[in-house]
Amino acid sequence: MVSRLGSWLDERLGWRQVWDAIFLRKIPKVNWLYTLGSATLFTAINQAVTGILLTIYYVPSPDHAYDSVQYITTEVPAGWLIRGLHHWGASAMVILTILHMLRVIFHGAYKYPREVTWFTGVLLGIVVIAFGFTGYLLPWDQKAYWATIIGTRIAEVTPVVGNWFLRIMRGGEELTAVTLTRFFGAHVWFLPAALLALTLIHLYLVVRIGISAVPRRGE
Ligand code: HEM
Repeated sequence: MVSRLGSWLDERLGWRQVWDAIFLRKIPKVNWLYTLGSATLFTAINQAVTGILLTIYYVPSPDHAYDSVQYITTEVPAGWLIRGLHHWGASAMVILTILHMLRVIFHGAYKYPREVTWFTGVLLGIVVIAFGFTGYLLPWDQKAYWATIIGTRIAEVTPVVGNWFLRIMRGGEELTAVTLTRFFGAHVWFLPAALLALTLIHLYLVVRIGISAVPRRGE
């Protein structure tokens, strides 16, 4: 029954060809270090699922942000778990992205013909850091507030465009309600859209070009 439905759909959509290209493609003999990209992908999915659930109760305004996070942690059924998974998942994602990048560097996997894969990876790395930075402000507690004051001040020392950069991030000279809504907007709309688009291109290239083999001595 299921296989007949599969064949019926395949005749119309050609999905088996796509499935074979992704899951039955030939790969060289690799090792555990090659799972770091997939592990990063797994954390990205965890962040998306738990993040969507958090937005059901989170309120991005200075009057309610802190209380809504407390409410999620103490009152909402399994809220502590969802928040914990998102909180620790964020650190895991940053660490895994860095480890995946180091694997690519040490194996020289950024070289021809994978330059564009590398480039989309660099953009993904920036997006992951931006996720961490914008998400850190959302609980709107003392730690979040002062960390964002420092983070935006660091951006301000950028030559020439520094002050402009700070004002774009804060939505003015000071850190206010505008900053919180701005960071929230970036965290739940702009960055997820960028992550999705870049990840699709990144993975398309991984499938299209094929994974690089472990370099041999002298290569
Ligand atoms: C959200 C972040 C990222 C995700 C989800 C992701 C996902 C993946 C996956 C699943 C693979 C194939 C398996 C593997 O080689 O581990 C891969 C390969 C690759 N990634 Fe990433 N990646 C991310 C970030 C990065 C970053 C930051 C870089 C470098 C700056 C990068 C550069 C590459 C390159 C060059 C390859 C091809 C490796 C090869 O053919 O041996 N990626 N990525």
